[in-house]
Amino acid sequence: MRIRKAVFPAAGLGTRFLPATKAQPKEMLPLVDKPAIQYVIEEAVASGVETVIIVTGRGKNAIEDHFDVAFELERTLEERGKTEALDEIRRIANLVRVCYVRQKEPLGLGHAVLSARDLVGDEPFAVLLGDDIIESKVPCLKQLMSIYDEHRCSIIAVERIDRTRTKDYGVVGVAPLQSSGKPPAGQGGRESVHEVRDLVEKPEPSEAPSDLAIIGRYILTSGIFEQLESTAPDKWGEIQLTNGLRSLLRKEKIMAYEFEGKRYDTGNKLGFLKATVEFALRREDLGEEFRRYLRCLAL
Ligand code: UTP
Repeated sequence: MRIRKAVFPAAGLGTRFLPATKAQPKEMLPLVDKPAIQYVIEEAVASGVETVIIVTGRGKNAIEDHFDVAFELERTLEERGKTEALDEIRRIANLVRVCYVRQKEPLGLGHAVLSARDLVGDEPFAVLLGDDIIESKVPCLKQLMSIYDEHRCSIIAVERIDRTRTKDYGVVGVAPLQSSGKPPAGQGGRESVHEVRDLVEKPEPSEAPSDLAIIGRYILTSGIFEQLESTAPDKWGEIQLTNGLRSLLRKEKIMAYEFEGKRYDTGNKLGFLKATVEFALRREDLGEEFRRYLRCLAL
C-alpha cells in the first residue's frame, strides 16, 4: 500500500526556545521567512503525501491559521497589487489537505503519534518531526518510501553521529551488513539499509548499541498503535516512540535507513542559527548582501 498520510507531532512545549515559545508555537519560528513546519510539510508534499495530520495542543492555533485561507489578508494584498506575496499566501493554503487532532497534554512523542490513530486508520503512514529540516536531491521521505516499497515494514531514518552525543538521541542496534563484495555505496546507497535489532532511547555512549541515531523521519505500520497503547511512560511521565518501536520489533521487522542529504537540527538554538545563516546565504534576494555583511564582521 502507498503511503498517503503523514503525521506531524507539533504539541510539544518547546522549552528550549523559551521565552520565544511562551505564546507562539516552536514550529512557527521562521528560518529566514518560512516557518519551520512549512519546510517539512513541503517535503511530505514533494514525496507524494495526500493528507497531512498535525497533532496540536494548547497555544498552537497559529499553525492552523498558517495553513488556512487568510481571506482579509488576501484581499488587502490584491488591492495593493502585491501579487507575489498573494500567490505565496494562496499556495500555502492550497498545499495539501490538512487535518488536526489535539493532544490534550504533552505526554511524549509516542503519545502524540497515538493521538493520530483514528485519522490514520489501518494503513502504513509517515511521521515527520518539524525539528529536522533535511536538504537533499530526493526528498528524505521519498527515499524512505522507496525503501518501504522494497521491504514492506516500518522504516526509521538514521544518521551516524559522534558517539559522545548518543544521550541526545534514540539509537538503533543493527544486524551486521551482508557483504556484497562491492565497495560500500555510501550515504543513501544500498549498504545504507540495516535490519534493526534493538532500539534504545538516549543511551550513555558506553551503552549505545551503535552510532546510528534516529532522526525525525519514519514510516510506520499501523501495528505501532497497539504497541504505544501498552507502552509505559518513562520517568518523566512521557510515552516515548522509541520504546513503542522496541515493542513493535518483537512482532515485526523494522529497517533503519541512512538517508542521503544534510540534516539541520533546528530544535536547539545553535542548530536553528546555523540553518538560518545557511538558508539566508542561499537566497537569491538576500545571499550576496548577507555574505558581504558576514565578511565584514570581526569574527
Ligand atoms: P521535542 O522534545 O523535540 O519537542 O519533541 P518539544 O518538547 O516541543 O521541545 P523541547 O524539548 O521542550 O524544547 C519532538 C517533536 O514531538 C512533538 C514536538 O512538538 C516536536 O515536534 N511532541 C513532543 C508532541 O507533539 N507531543 C509531546 O508530548 C512531545
